[in-house]
Amino acid sequence: MSDQTFFIETWGCQMNDLDTQRLSGNLKLRGWTRVDDESEASLILLNTCSIRDKAEQKVFSRLGELRELKSRNDVRIGVAGCVAQQEGDRILKRAPWVDFVMGPGNVGHLDEVLEGKRVATDFPEDRRYDYLTMDRPSATKAQVTIIEGCNKNCTFCIVPTTRGREVSRPFDDVVAEVRAAIDSGRVEIELLGQTVNAYRCPITGRDFGALLSAVAEVPGVLRLRFMTSHPAEVNDSMIAAMRDHRNISRYLHLPVQSGSSRVLRRMKRLYSREKYLEVMARIREAIPEIHFSTDIIVGFPGETEEDFQETISLIEEVGYGSLFAFKYSPRPGTPSLKIGEPVDDAIASDRLTRIFEAHERIKRERLDSYRGKVLPVLYDGPSRNDPSMMTGRTDDNWVVNFSGDPAIPLGSLIGVRIDHAQHHTLRGEAVT
Ligand code: 5AD
Repeated sequence: MSDQTFFIETWGCQMNDLDTQRLSGNLKLRGWTRVDDESEASLILLNTCSIRDKAEQKVFSRLGELRELKSRNDVRIGVAGCVAQQEGDRILKRAPWVDFVMGPGNVGHLDEVLEGKRVATDFPEDRRYDYLTMDRPSATKAQVTIIEGCNKNCTFCIVPTTRGREVSRPFDDVVAEVRAAIDSGRVEIELLGQTVNAYRCPITGRDFGALLSAVAEVPGVLRLRFMTSHPAEVNDSMIAAMRDHRNISRYLHLPVQSGSSRVLRRMKRLYSREKYLEVMARIREAIPEIHFSTDIIVGFPGETEEDFQETISLIEEVGYGSLFAFKYSPRPGTPSLKIGEPVDDAIASDRLTRIFEAHERIKRERLDSYRGKVLPVLYDGPSRNDPSMMTGRTDDNWVVNFSGDPAIPLGSLIGVRIDHAQHHTLRGEAVT
């Protein structure tokens, strides 16, 4: 066993995926080798998520498993990510076999923990961002952070605590990273941030719409995506950039969380039901083919059946193609802990089921509407379930599994005739 091997496990959002790419790239630069088997590693990193209680519990049960490995092997164990930030040295007390904890603000400061610092949970002024060494897992797609942290204070959310205040990267740095990714053979760019459309260049003040346009115009960008937008930050410049650049994905994830203005106020979402619907109408007017997606929380403290019915009616009114729904989970230190009466768990579970039922029909209609059409699909590899099939995404972000000539290079845009819709995906045959 080489003494410099590492294993890294990632939970949670795209920001965590990206932090893993940075950590891994950093270690490789220093001569470490990444391994897929934890028992062969001399360093194990868990890049953790604390957005909901379950994500956090998984981390502690995983640490329990690793305790045994630690007693057999000479291995260092580090906890990174949002649970590290949230719990800090409490992790070392609860799981003393852990060697260090490092929060998301310290991804660029890995050296200090490797040299023996045990708790790194500050947000250093100097956020080193070494994109050229990123260990990107995909041959066709590069994810690029444009803004870290979040300045919204949604009363249910742990992110402002775990990822700190917003820091946007300079516009020219982002464009340079995109060019470098294209030069390395990638054709798809995904811009990332917890509130991606709050982006503002710290040097020139240029906004998210300006950045979207600049990136879409970099030669070689076949497709441009971004995650996650906040409804209150959608503006005309963002909508115009999407409308005017055909290589920007016709997919917009715009978390609404609830359809009730009363609940939205208590969540501090900074918009009402009416305001949200107005934003959606403006976008749809500019880009009629858009595929909308959203996040919903059910069982927020004080949510009544009436509030919940408003969420169901909003889902129907917008007609989301995709939807993610969660039961409210109390997060340490968040203001929602002091707001209203908790909703009974059985009631929250029932509401969650009803959300999915209401959405199923809408999603089916949308998926069925593609039948017989030929859509441009960005080919990104063999299908996971059936390697004899190829897979890719449409420009409105549906996964398509299709038959065709596997000798076509990865990253090609292929015309695919859609035969039928499966549960969440489409199936078809290459025609070009
Ligand atoms: N409880 C339940 N769901 C939550 N989310 C964020 N915080 C919580 C919480 N405390 C959901 C929101 C968000 C998504 C990433 O996770 O819907 O948009």
